[in-house]
Amino acid sequence: MDLQYETVDEIKKNEHWYDTCDVAVAKKKTNDAPQIRRVGLSWKNLIILFLVVLILSLCTSLAVSVLMNISNDNLPLSLPKTATDTGNTMRDCLAMKENDSLSSGVYSLVLNDTMLFDVYCDMTTHKGGWIVFQKRFNGKENFYRDWHAYENGFGDLNGEFWIGNKYLHILTQVPTELRIDLKAWDRQTRYAEYSTFVIGDAESNYTLSIDGYHGDAGDGLEYHDGRQFSTYDQDNSQEGKHCAKRNKGAWWYRLCSFSSLNGEYLNGTNGTADQNVGVNWEKFKGDYYSLKSASMMLRRKKKE
Ligand SMILES: *[C@@H]1O[C@H](CO)[C@@H](O)[C@H](O)[C@H]1NC(C)=O
Ligand SMILES: *[C@@H]1O[C@H](CO)[C@@H](O)[C@H](O)[C@H]1NC(C)=O
Ligand SMILES: *[C@@H]1O[C@H](CO)[C@@H](O)[C@H](O)[C@H]1NC(C)=O
Ligand SMILES: *[C@@H]1O[C@H](CO)[C@@H](O)[C@H](O)[C@H]1NC(C)=O
Ligand SMILES: *[C@@H]1O[C@H](CO)[C@@H](O)[C@H](O)[C@H]1NC(C)=O
Repeated sequence: MDLQYETVDEIKKNEHWYDTCDVAVAKKKTNDAPQIRRVGLSWKNLIILFLVVLILSLCTSLAVSVLMNISNDNLPLSLPKTATDTGNTMRDCLAMKENDSLSSGVYSLVLNDTMLFDVYCDMTTHKGGWIVFQKRFNGKENFYRDWHAYENGFGDLNGEFWIGNKYLHILTQVPTELRIDLKAWDRQTRYAEYSTFVIGDAESNYTLSIDGYHGDAGDGLEYHDGRQFSTYDQDNSQEGKHCAKRNKGAWWYRLCSFSSLNGEYLNGTNGTADQNVGVNWEKFKGDYYSLKSASMMLRRKKKE
């Protein structure tokens, strides 16, 4: 054993750091005279060691959870890290899939030449390899957020989230397809796929370009083709209609929408909603309906 503490008093002297963590420590009985002890595997030493380890790990987990709470709230989904040291060269979920990563989950991708970026990969839907960029299914995340939040992303990759418009722009710089999956409260499901999906840069206010619909949900995005993104604090919809405020969402609104999947999540209503308010896809369930779940994902197109 290689413990640095020699006497009971020294041990106590060195225990001040307990206070920094606000953890109550039971006081030990003091001996009148300090006794020199051999530090070895006596049961007292073991108990002290155990306490030290326990309190250290309590402090650590407290600190970690505080940090995670902060980062869950207002920071981007994952702060990009540098890729140079990790040897990771995977650009997207399709590359992961092709390198035998077969289960859906969170993966670290190389966003551009230097940055690592965590995403959720769907490896099972329609041949897999999809980067999920939007997910709704329980209403736990607030989607009525401002321009800055939609630009940088928010939420929890294992729960509900929006990946961030600036990342959508980067990810759609190669030929990209889009897939949307919808589920109603009566368990009916529908999907829509688009063979072309591009999100413009910040300068364009993240303009949507969409083409090549197929699926059974109905084409809910054609109407929004070429439109800029709008949030309640930056209305880029037509004729100043403040569609983001009206629809309580954030979308490529026009006048206002045939779809609005970032609308308000309406729990326990069996879908009943005010017109176009809610998680809405008009061609599936009409404009007075809010869906139970929705997800949006993109995939680089394979060269043919
Ligand atoms: C591809 O998969 C192999 C085997 O799982 C792994 O060792 C390798 O690191 C992966 N390549 C990259 C670039 O992640
Ligand atoms: C990579 O992306 C990050 C985050 O958007 C950006 O800050 C950085 O400048 C980009 N680097 C390159 C080489 O494009
Ligand atoms: C919906 O229900 C979930 C869990 O049942 C809850 O956490 C969430 O806050 C609810 N959302 C709304 C908007 O009521
Ligand atoms: C983007 O939105 C801002 C704020 O609404 C507006 O001033 C600007 O003209 C828009 N950009 C383009 C290219 O339309
Ligand atoms: C929703 O549907 C369920 C099952 O049909 C029913 O029990 C419930 O009362 C309905 N809730 C509302 C708000 O309509």
